[in-house]
Amino acid sequence: MKKSVMITTPAYYVNARPHIGHAYTTIACDTWARYQRLTGNDVFFLTGTDEHGDKIVKAAAEQGKSVEEYCDEIAGEFKSVWQSLGISCDDMIRTTEVRHKKVVTEILQKIYDAGDIYAGEYTGKYCFGCERYLTDKELNGKGECEVHLKVPEVISEKNYFFKMQKYLPIWKEMLLKNSSLVQPEGYYKEVLGTIDELVKNGEDLSISRPKKRLKWGIEIPFDKDYVTYVWFDALINYVSAAGYGASSFGVRWSGAHHMIAKDILKPHGVYWPTMLLAAQIPMYKRLIVHGYWLGFQDQKMSKSLGNAKDPLELSAWLGNDALRFFLMREMNFGGDARFSEEIMVNRLNANLANDLGNLVQRTLSMLKKYECGPAPSAKLHQSGDTIHAALKTLKKDYHQRFESFEFHNAIESVFVLIRLLNKIVDEYKPWQLAKENLPECVSLLNTLLRAIVIVLLYLRPVLPEKTADLLSLLKVKSDEEFPDTLTAVHFAEAKLDTWPMLFQRIEIKE
Ligand code: MSP
Repeated sequence: MKKSVMITTPAYYVNARPHIGHAYTTIACDTWARYQRLTGNDVFFLTGTDEHGDKIVKAAAEQGKSVEEYCDEIAGEFKSVWQSLGISCDDMIRTTEVRHKKVVTEILQKIYDAGDIYAGEYTGKYCFGCERYLTDKELNGKGECEVHLKVPEVISEKNYFFKMQKYLPIWKEMLLKNSSLVQPEGYYKEVLGTIDELVKNGEDLSISRPKKRLKWGIEIPFDKDYVTYVWFDALINYVSAAGYGASSFGVRWSGAHHMIAKDILKPHGVYWPTMLLAAQIPMYKRLIVHGYWLGFQDQKMSKSLGNAKDPLELSAWLGNDALRFFLMREMNFGGDARFSEEIMVNRLNANLANDLGNLVQRTLSMLKKYECGPAPSAKLHQSGDTIHAALKTLKKDYHQRFESFEFHNAIESVFVLIRLLNKIVDEYKPWQLAKENLPECVSLLNTLLRAIVIVLLYLRPVLPEKTADLLSLLKVKSDEEFPDTLTAVHFAEAKLDTWPMLFQRIEIKE
């Protein structure tokens, strides 16, 4: 039955241009969204930008731009990068949009009216240089701000607090009943640990900032002197984009999946669920967490370390599909992964140029050279039995792995079939059959072609451009469901003249 599924990327801060870390999450969501569409589900794929808060004000000031102008510029850049990477998102929300501000205001008022927001004293370590409170992690060994090398002052001021403590035990109960709410398992456990820690320290969540210090935010509806804390604002993007308040919201939200990296596990695994409970919005379906791409010396790739790769530069070199393939296949979803040119070149040459590229190239060349097809009426070859057994395994593994966000394993399940097909070519030697037994050669090459079509159809979510090119050449509909038998494949009788080279071998540049 057709299901409604929603998949979201984080709303990225506009204080940095999109780098390969952002591209990874967006491409992973895109791959999953494409997979879901191909299984016949109704998909809503959301991405967006997080534009309020002092980080953004600072970044704009550093560039001598007004904050509005700066946000427009970087949000526009995210949009154009996603477009050129072929991202199939259905919506891209900006937290500065009216539709979002309206929902934030509504939700704040609702929680306030229910008595779950109260005014209190906030005490924290304030750095006047940074103009914000610092966390202990942001201090150096001497307890100083790492940027201004001054010990921050402990100050107290009025702020609004959300009664997060009231909802932590309820959320914990829900998690204990359903461990699939946060995945993979390591992060599920981490969330449970964080809840226990927060319950122990007993603090609620400060959700406001005084306007005298920060104007760039959404005004608190019940106190004009305050704006909303940026996380409380940003998390709500997911429901504002899903149409909170509209009749379509319920169905859309019922299939909500959030994808993030582990850096923002606490806001998504703890703050957001308690906010949803307080606002009486149904819980998200799953929070899916991945690790970091590590650059030089195994440090997390990030703007601040200056070690992050530019996705457009990489796609200009490799093409969109090869870049997607590398990112999706190389990282064991959940863990960290190293990024280097050498690792990338080795992966792409081994899997795309060798395994897949060779299979397609030699099968099509022989079909052409021996004038064997494509001939849909050709008899299935005896190797079809082995291929069918492999297809059973592929079908089971592929869907199960995609459903559980194991991209690397889902892709690998297709490559098991690809390697088997290459073995069949080596074993039956069509170049010899062409001389000794042409009917068998015809049946072998066309059986292989059927299997190649299946391979291409299963690789559509990760290689959307290349598979579409080749499938259209073979006159196979590219929105077909995933076939599980060789005879379920339909291609046209044709004479192949030329076809696009799938993937060339690449050389290390550095
Ligand atoms: N604005 C917040 C999110 C608010 S969501 C309601 C934010 N933005 S961010 O621009 O810093 O994006 C963080 C996200 O970018 C990570 O969770 C991850 O999706 C992606 N990544 C950034 N660097 C990354 C790596 N080096 N490796 C993997 N993912 C990376 O946090």
